[in-house]
Amino acid sequence: MADMTYRPLGRCGTKVSTLSLGGWTTFGGSITSERTTREILHAAFDAGVNFFDIADVYALGAAETIMGKALAALPRHHLVISSKCFWPMSQDVNDRGLSRKHIVESVERSLQRIGTDYLDILFCHRYDEETPLEETVRAMEDLIRQGKLLYWGTSEWTGAQIREAHAIADRRNAYGPQVEQPQYNLLVRDKVEGDVQPAAEDHGMGLVVWSPLASGLLTGKYDDAVPEDTRLARIEWLREQLFAGEGREKTKAMKATADRLGCTRTQLALAWAAAQPGVSSVILGATSIAQLQENLGALEVTVDDEARAALDDLFPASGN
Ligand SMILES: NC(=O)c1ccc[n+]([C@@H]2O[C@H](COP(=O)([O-])OP(=O)(O)OC[C@H]3O[C@@H](n4cnc5c(N)ncnc54)[C@H](OP(=O)(O)O)[C@@H]3O)[C@@H](O)[C@H]2O)c1
Repeated sequence: MADMTYRPLGRCGTKVSTLSLGGWTTFGGSITSERTTREILHAAFDAGVNFFDIADVYALGAAETIMGKALAALPRHHLVISSKCFWPMSQDVNDRGLSRKHIVESVERSLQRIGTDYLDILFCHRYDEETPLEETVRAMEDLIRQGKLLYWGTSEWTGAQIREAHAIADRRNAYGPQVEQPQYNLLVRDKVEGDVQPAAEDHGMGLVVWSPLASGLLTGKYDDAVPEDTRLARIEWLREQLFAGEGREKTKAMKATADRLGCTRTQLALAWAAAQPGVSSVILGATSIAQLQENLGALEVTVDDEARAALDDLFPASGN
C-alpha cells in the first residue's frame, strides 16, 4: 500500500492525513462493539491516519465515548481529534445551537466523553441563524485561549457566512475558523466548487470533506439492489434521497474509467475527492477492516487527465 500523505489545514502548521476516518452512523451506532471499533481505528492509525472526526450528536454521545476509548490507547500528540456542536442533544431549549452557553457546555461534555483534555478542532456543525455570529466567534476564541480547543471550524456554512466570521475575528484580533467541513463527492459538487472553496482559500482555510462515497452509493454496491446490513438498508430517508437522482446509473457508467485505471469505483471516487483544489483531507467512513483497506488503496490511484474529463462529463459540477 502507498504511504500516507499529510496536508496542512489551509494556512496553518498542523497537518492531517489525506485520508481520515469519521464516526457518523457507524461507531456507537451500527457498530456497538468496542473491539471492532478499536480494530478499525487502530488499523487506520497503523496505515498513517492521524485525523479522527467525531461529533457530539453521533449516536447521541456514544460515538465520542466508543471512539474515545479506542483512541485512548494511541499517543495523543499523534492524533488530530475533532468534534462538533450545534444539533440538539436533548429537548432542552439551550442544549443546541451556537450560543456561548451551549458551545462551552458542549465542549466540556465532549472532552469528558472522549477522555481528552483538548480538541484539536471543534466544528460548528451548521450555521445558527438564532445566535449572533459575534457571540460564537468570541466563545471559540475564549475556549482556544483556555487551551480546550486548538482550532475551530465550520461545517456546511456558505462562503458569505465564512467571510463574515473572518471579518468579525479580524476586527477582534481573534482566531477565525481554520477549516470548513462540507459534503463533497462526485454527485454533490456545486456548493463547494462555486461558493465554499473560494471563500476558504481566500481565508487560508482547509477543507475536510464528508460523505466522499455518497454514503456508499459510489462504491457500486447499490447498482442493482440494496444489500442487507448496509447503511442504505438501515436509513430509509437517506436511501430515498440518494436513489431519487441519477446517482446509481452514473455510478455504473463510472466503472469503465475505474477499470482503465485498474482500481475500484470506490477508490476512484476517493482519489478524485483527494485531488480536488483546497481539499486537506477526505473523511472516510468504514464498517469493516476490508472496507477501510479498500478505501486506503485510493492513495495509489492517480486521476489522470482522461479520467478527470470522463468524470466531469458524467458528474458535471453544475449537475447538482
Ligand atoms: N459535517 C457533517 O455534517 C457530516 C455529515 C456526514 C458525515 N460527516 C463526517 O464524514 C465522515 C464520512 O462520511 P460518510 O460515512 O458518509 O462517508 P462515505 O464514504 O460516503 O460512506 C461511508 C459508508 O459507506 C460504506 N462503505 C465505505 N467504504 C466502503 C467500501 N469500500 N465498500 C462498500 N461499502 C463501503 C459503509 O457503510 P455500510 O457498510 O454501513 O453500508 C460506510 O460507513 C463521517 O463519519 C463523519 O465523520 C460529517
